Amino acid sequence: MRYIGNKTRLLPFILRVTDQLGLAPGIAHDAFSGTASVGRALKERGWRVASSDLMTYSYVLQRAYVVAQRVPSFADLRAGDADLRSALRSSTFRKTVSANGGGTLAVVAEYLSRWIEPERGFIAEHYAPAGGRMYFTEENAERIDAIRQRLHDWRAEGLIGEDAFYLLLAALLEGADRVANTAGVYAAYIKRWQSNARRPLALAPLAPVRGPRGSTAHQDDAARVARALGPIDLLYLDPPYNNRQYAGYYHVPEIIARGWFDGRPAITGKTGLLVERTQRSTWCSPRQVERSLVELLSATGARHVLVSYNSEGILSESVLRATLARFAVDGRVRRFWRTYRRYRADGDQSGRTYREGELRELLFHARLA
Ligand SMILES: C[S@@+](CC[C@H](N)C(=O)[O-])C[C@H]1O[C@@H](n2cnc3c(N)ncnc32)[C@H](O)[C@@H]1O
Repeated sequence: MRYIGNKTRLLPFILRVTDQLGLAPGIAHDAFSGTASVGRALKERGWRVASSDLMTYSYVLQRAYVVAQRVPSFADLRAGDADLRSALRSSTFRKTVSANGGGTLAVVAEYLSRWIEPERGFIAEHYAPAGGRMYFTEENAERIDAIRQRLHDWRAEGLIGEDAFYLLLAALLEGADRVANTAGVYAAYIKRWQSNARRPLALAPLAPVRGPRGSTAHQDDAARVARALGPIDLLYLDPPYNNRQYAGYYHVPEIIARGWFDGRPAITGKTGLLVERTQRSTWCSPRQVERSLVELLSATGARHVLVSYNSEGILSESVLRATLARFAVDGRVRRFWRTYRRYRADGDQSGRTYREGELRELLFHARLA
């Protein structure tokens, strides 16, 4: 998923640093999980991961990429959904599924992507042209609505279990993001259709990562989760770097993740933001960020902390280092860094490279116990 601060490209760097520090897999808390990319990579490496974030869409991704252990069989769904069984009898359907790698996840993804009828729901009513906004084409918005409704119904009827629900919902969030008519964040839509937005929505679920049992997902504040976890081996922090609230930049995936089945969300303004402001983060406030860091470091029972931060963060490097040093058993803070191209929401049409696009990604380490 296109996401501010997504660490997918920096995973080799982060994992190399854990190796350099000699951190053997144990229990890790990925406290600001976002797309769950770091938790997923740690789990793949043999860590048991507890993952947390304030946002519902992140919880969905955590459940799919950190908690789920195996591809579901979908036996109850096959038994209970006659329409799916009839799709499975079609040779075109089976051919497409095998071209997509086969397997039960590919079957259900293909069924949802192309066999169920699009239908009008909350997304088509508010985030497509008929609702006065151009986040999705009418057709894609109706597909998102139909798939979201189907996932809700299947879960409510007991035709799919929790892992299957979250794996498919994660695939819907990722698929919708690929056809969203935005420059990467949902703070605005583009007034002309981009080529990605014209493509038909398709789900391409990722297979779950096998790892040690017992990884967990939490939709909660990082410090509260840290306190509840007690003694662990590693706390990995990748907090917001600036005052942009994720709740305002990713409200559309948030609504898709929550659904609209227990009451329609109240939305407002040109971009259809959620009216409620319960998911605002103190880490985005220059006045509160230092206090939030102290609170989190006081709450954790981790032996090691690793903090990702970049050279443009609202917390100055000197304050971050001094705070970590205060909590370190030996007063020592190590810094690792590498440069990388800034995630640019608007892309670089001409393919030029430019200096100001380069940021330093910093990784700080302190031993806390
Ligand atoms: C820089 S992003 C993390 C990116 C993530 N490492 C990835 O690879 O996708 C910061 C995340 O912190 C979350 N966040 C902000 N305040 C939080 C808090 N108090 N507790 C937990 N998560 C929080 C945001 O919702 C956002 O997903």
